[in-house]
Amino acid sequence: MAAVLLGLLLFAMQSPPVPSRPPPPPPASSPTDNGTVGHPNGTLQQFPHIIIIGVRKGGTRALIEMLSLHSSVAAAQNEVHFFDWETHFQRGLPWYLSQMPYAFPDQRTVEKTPAYFTSSKVPKRIHQVSPDTKLLLILRDPTERVLSDYTQVFYNRLQKHKHYQPVESLLVKDGAINLGYKALNRSLYYLHMQNWLQYFPLENLHVVDGDELIRDPFPEMKKVERFLELEPQINASNFYFNKTKGFYCLRDHGRERCLHDTKGRAHPHVAPDILQKLYQFFQEPNRKFFEMVGRTFNWKMNI
Ligand SMILES: *[C@@H]1O[C@H](CO)[C@@H](O)[C@H](O)[C@H]1NC(C)=O
Ligand SMILES: *[C@@H]1O[C@H](CO)[C@@H](O)[C@H](O)[C@H]1NC(C)=O
Ligand SMILES: *[C@@H]1O[C@H](CO)[C@@H](O)[C@H](O)[C@H]1NC(C)=O
Ligand SMILES: *[C@@H]1O[C@H](CO)[C@@H](O)[C@H](O)[C@H]1NC(C)=O
Ligand SMILES: *[C@@H]1O[C@H](CO)[C@@H](O)[C@H](O)[C@H]1NC(C)=O
Repeated sequence: MAAVLLGLLLFAMQSPPVPSRPPPPPPASSPTDNGTVGHPNGTLQQFPHIIIIGVRKGGTRALIEMLSLHSSVAAAQNEVHFFDWETHFQRGLPWYLSQMPYAFPDQRTVEKTPAYFTSSKVPKRIHQVSPDTKLLLILRDPTERVLSDYTQVFYNRLQKHKHYQPVESLLVKDGAINLGYKALNRSLYYLHMQNWLQYFPLENLHVVDGDELIRDPFPEMKKVERFLELEPQINASNFYFNKTKGFYCLRDHGRERCLHDTKGRAHPHVAPDILQKLYQFFQEPNRKFFEMVGRTFNWKMNI
């Protein structure tokens, strides 16, 4: 199984041939034939068992932080962008593994790159390396997500003293919803989901309700734990509500931490008629998505 996997990998990556014997003396870590990189202290850098594929502004940071509460989970610190960025992908699997955290063999490695969900070449690439990968997708109300997406870009541009367009002029063009606006496209969840379901069965993918995760994280995290077949460990006392923030924070072995402040930034004001147009616009794409995943979400249909 492992050898087959690696064979597939080398084929898929078209990376330069790996010498059959690594040159001695071995470095602290050396690739082994099972898709892992071992370290003398008993930890390894392994291909992630779990990948959080998106969506951008869906709450992926909160999800990976909360998942890290579990002692059997080892999470990558950064967004790796291996499967979606050509320059990274060309570096091949050894590079990807080098980006993974050192984990004990009984731990599951997880990475998150929110752009994977909307990149059409990614599902095939992940499937070629490891068809058993468990996928987590965290989604929010698609209208909220677009506004949050806009807000992030807006603040980035503001910081760089660059020009920014008012949100209405991006959302609507000549009186109609502007499909050319990328942030809008990212909220067409069914479109992207189609690509994933071509390669992965629905059983491999769990959708986390991002709105619920913010409102009341514990029940959502229990579902995640169950999906991943992790020993039940995350409990209600891992979360506490911070009234000043208006958000839940995490308690991890007595250590308290809240997510970064930009995670709760206020959205721009949007003219009500345009907001209403957006809600209406998303009704049909949302219905298609619900049908695809056999589940409905409590996304708004009206102001
Ligand atoms: C991978 O192989 C190395 C060396 O052969 C071994 O120490 C390690 O336990 C293996 N890891 C897994 C996950 O099988
Ligand atoms: C094992 O070694 C790696 C690499 O030096 C290090 O990052 C990790 O913290 C170590 N883990 C333990 C448990 O010692
Ligand atoms: C939306 O994104 C998908 C997937 O990337 C792409 O195939 C499609 O052409 C986009 N639609 C528009 C209107 O840009
Ligand atoms: C919840 O988990 C923490 C460790 O994360 C543990 O110390 C505590 O006893 C648990 N509480 C309950 C009620 O199980
Ligand atoms: C609650 O949030 C406020 C505002 O961000 C922060 O200053 C404070 O440290 C937080 N308190 C706790 C207990 O997390």
